[in-house]
Parts: sequence; C-alpha cells; structure tokens
Amino acid sequence: MPKYTLTINKTPYTVDVDADTPVLWVLRDSLKLVGTKFGCGIGQCGACTIHLNGNAVRSCTLPVSAVANANMKLTSIEGLSENGDHPVQQAWLEIDVPQCGYCQAGQIMTAAAFLDKNPNPSEEEIKNTMSGNICRCGTYMRINKAVALAAKKL
Ligand code: FES
Ligand code: FES
Repeated sequence: MPKYTLTINKTPYTVDVDADTPVLWVLRDSLKLVGTKFGCGIGQCGACTIHLNGNAVRSCTLPVSAVANANMKLTSIEGLSENGDHPVQQAWLEIDVPQCGYCQAGQIMTAAAFLDKNPNPSEEEIKNTMSGNICRCGTYMRINKAVALAAKKL
C-alpha cells in the first residue's frame, strides 16, 4: 500500500493506506484519534467534521490522497485547543449542550470554523450554519445558544 504523510494537529503522520481511504478512518483507525465520529459515511450528518486549512470539512468523504500535502493542515477535535479551552468548548460546557454526545465533536468543529470567519453572526446565520449538522438527540436549541455565547467570548 502507498504511504501518505498528513499534517494533523500540527504533527506530521505517515500512514500506509489505500489512496481512497477516508481521512475519518485514518484518524480513528490508524492514529487512534477517535474524537471524530462516524455517522452516515456519505457527507450528510456532520459527525465527522474536521478542519482543513481552517474550513469545516467532512472527513468521511475526504480521501487521504487529496490531503497528503504539506500545505494541507488538518485539525481534529483533539487539536482544536491545548486544554479543551477553546471559546466554543467553554460555551458548550457552560450551556451543557450534549445529551448522548455522539454528534458534538462535529458540532463544535463546525461552530469553531464558522465563528473564525464570522465572529459576529446573527441568530439566523447561526441557525442556518448549524442546521447542517444532525443531532439525533435534538440539542439544536442549546447548540445555537452556545454558538452565540462563544461569539461573545471570542
Ligand atoms: Fe461524515 Fe456523516 S459521517 S457526514
Ligand atoms: Fe446525541 Fe447529538 S447529542 S446525537
């Protein structure tokens, strides 16, 4: 199998996988970075959201061969902050957002990339952006509240 070197959470990792292996499985299976979750596997639910050069992307449909390049910086939930103290994570704790928790890493990564580009979002913008990530427990109200709180903290 070919070898690919990826920069994840500021660290270079070399993995031995097929070219079309989704980054989600590189994170979870090869590197044991299991904070990123598998939901649908077809780019629909957002559970697998990570950042690629600061943009929220779905790692379940992102082939490893597309990001094995030193200019491509990947960030998973484990690398969002040093001590889990990113303003979005702080807001999540304050609002006590999660129920089962399964979708929440993806929600947080989506929110963090969104606020990075739009630090003063309207309620409508928050709702529109976050509605792309599915939460089977229906924590949407708390998610939207936490994103607004995080915007204030930033
Ligand atoms: Fe990737 Fe659902 S698991 S979008
Ligand atoms: Fe359970 Fe979102 S908290 S799926």
